[in-house]
Amino acid sequence: MQARPLLDWADPPRELIGFLGLFFGAGAVGFRYFALKGREIETDRPFYDDAAQRAAIIGLIGTILSLALAAWELPALAARKHMDPAAFATSDAATMMELGFLIIALFGFALGIARVGAGWVLAAIGVVVGALRVALLGRWSQLVNPVHSLAAGLWIGTLFVLVTAGLSSLLKNEQTRERRGAIAADMVNGFSPLALTMGAIVVVFGLITAWRHLHHLSALWTTPYGYTLIVKLVFVALVFGLGAWNWRRQRPILGTEPAAVAIRNSARAELTFAVLVLLVTSVLVSLPSPRG
Ligand code: HEM
Repeated sequence: MQARPLLDWADPPRELIGFLGLFFGAGAVGFRYFALKGREIETDRPFYDDAAQRAAIIGLIGTILSLALAAWELPALAARKHMDPAAFATSDAATMMELGFLIIALFGFALGIARVGAGWVLAAIGVVVGALRVALLGRWSQLVNPVHSLAAGLWIGTLFVLVTAGLSSLLKNEQTRERRGAIAADMVNGFSPLALTMGAIVVVFGLITAWRHLHHLSALWTTPYGYTLIVKLVFVALVFGLGAWNWRRQRPILGTEPAAVAIRNSARAELTFAVLVLLVTSVLVSLPSPRG
């Protein structure tokens, strides 16, 4: 009999699509409620409205990715319960909730694209409550990974939307040419408390999930799961290092256009390492846990 391979290489790409779906949705909501919050200065209103609309498009793409993944996984989940997919989707509480919240988010982002303000409330409910839906089923012990990934999404996803829908567009926008430095400072200062809070939550819940899986510290250097976690933590350290650089060195000097260009460039570097973190994480969650 052949031994089962350690890793099914079909799993990491599927996990990665799930992460991107969550990070785009959470990033759009984080951007709207933190980077743009209270920053709608009348003269620059068209820029802020356009930025919110671009964020809603990113959120919609993320939600479509999540829905496509859920639909793709449905037949296998239904087969495990010996049911047909349609009957399973309309009877299994966890699946109904997952699909329900994704549809709420989908409508929310679609309304956001149409510039209907209330759409953002729906999008926020769909993304945030949807990510933490196991709590609604009373499955508290299963909440660690969702909190870890939602916090990571609200931090890194918002940074992605800030760079693409916010800073990069701002630096090309002619109407705001005179005030680019001030607008960039406003958006980054709005994002900063979110990044600090979510960064702390990511670490706390990351340590809890790591401890639960490793069980013994020695599993960190004696198992494939452990080695992969070490690789992930090296990239995580680089993301935190660049985040700290942006926060301590770049943010305080914001206010001019060159400073806005500089922070956009170092935020891009931070995002590159964050993509590596997600790539390694997609392998990590596909490996057998040492505890098992
Ligand atoms: C840039 C920072 C980080 C990002 C973007 C990130 C992202 C993620 C994501 C998206 C997951 C998938 C969770 C799921 O499948 O539900 C995950 C899992 C995990 N994270 Fe992180 N993480 C970060 C930092 C950390 C830190 C600091 C630790 C601390 C040790 C950590 C430990 C873990 C572990 C052990 C898992 C695997 C859980 C499992 O096997 O089910 N992460 N991370």
